[in-house]
Amino acid sequence: MDEQIKAMQAEIEAAAASITDSKEMYLLRKQYLDNKTGKISALMKNMRDLPPEERPAFGKVVNVLKGWALDFFTEQDARLKAIELAQKNAAEQIDVTMPASKHLCGALHPQTLIANELIDIFAGMGFTIFEGPEIENDYYNFTALNTPQDHPARDMQDTFYVSEEFLLRTQTSAGQIRVMENAQPPIKILSPGKVFRSDDDATHSPMFSQMEGLVVDKGITLCDLQGMLDVFAQNIFGENVKTRLRPSYFPFTEPSVEVDVSCFACGGKGCRLCKDTGWIEVLGAGMVNRHVLENCGVDPDVYTGFAFGMGIERIAMLKYGIPNIKMLFESDVRVLEQFRG
Ligand code: DAH
Repeated sequence: MDEQIKAMQAEIEAAAASITDSKEMYLLRKQYLDNKTGKISALMKNMRDLPPEERPAFGKVVNVLKGWALDFFTEQDARLKAIELAQKNAAEQIDVTMPASKHLCGALHPQTLIANELIDIFAGMGFTIFEGPEIENDYYNFTALNTPQDHPARDMQDTFYVSEEFLLRTQTSAGQIRVMENAQPPIKILSPGKVFRSDDDATHSPMFSQMEGLVVDKGITLCDLQGMLDVFAQNIFGENVKTRLRPSYFPFTEPSVEVDVSCFACGGKGCRLCKDTGWIEVLGAGMVNRHVLENCGVDPDVYTGFAFGMGIERIAMLKYGIPNIKMLFESDVRVLEQFRG
């Protein structure tokens, strides 16, 4: 009897010795201890075939074997699970000295940042947005804006003509006409958008963006323009910035002015940015020419207005110190990354 028990113990130990996985060990345990099919449970069932007087001793021995096997498998299970946990922990260990993996994350383009900032400033002063078409005809882009037939801007050298009739708008000023044709004053609109000119160097690009403004009402004067420009310049370039108007010429305004801001880099003392003048030119503006009002059915004896137009890339280049307009179109991540808010 004892022999049989010892042999089974040895058999279990030998089988367990080659097992390195707790799941396999569980299967081995079942082979011996499963209530229905286990080899030790089968021994118990064999007891019925023995003469009654031998049964108690046999039962005792089998119970000892069963107790031993239960302890043995519990120990084996704990041992293998400890090894498995150690292996899992080792595999999942994090080396905090390794460089972190980078998550590239997008940001708004400097052009968009400036456009949004401008829209915010003017929306705060009650302007609403009007977006005109990029393909215009000669009437809206030039004629209605009081541009003479022989004006150089109409030249093929400066303007991209799509056909005899249509062209790519050279200025957002065309939007002024579209707005005034459809609405009577009071008018207060801001018209941002792309414009196109046959022009290409470090500060000019064949496609760029402008922001046009138009205010028409009774009693609007040049002082209203200057007051609004001060709010704009101080918001964009800094609290201490001043504006100045210089006489200029645009066919659609009379008088016309070029607007300078005092240099925000040197405070007006003179530096590289302002070319030692203390002033930086930022936009064109003026009082809407009475012919333009008439062309749109607005009575110039009742209403007056001012208009202005600025290049958005120019404002972005000045504000962020970008030396070449192409940097705004190349999408070089090393450049764009510097504008992440
Ligand atoms: N359209 C002009 C340009 O592209 C800019 C401009 C100047 C717009 C004066 C205006 C204005 O509305 O009043 O150079």
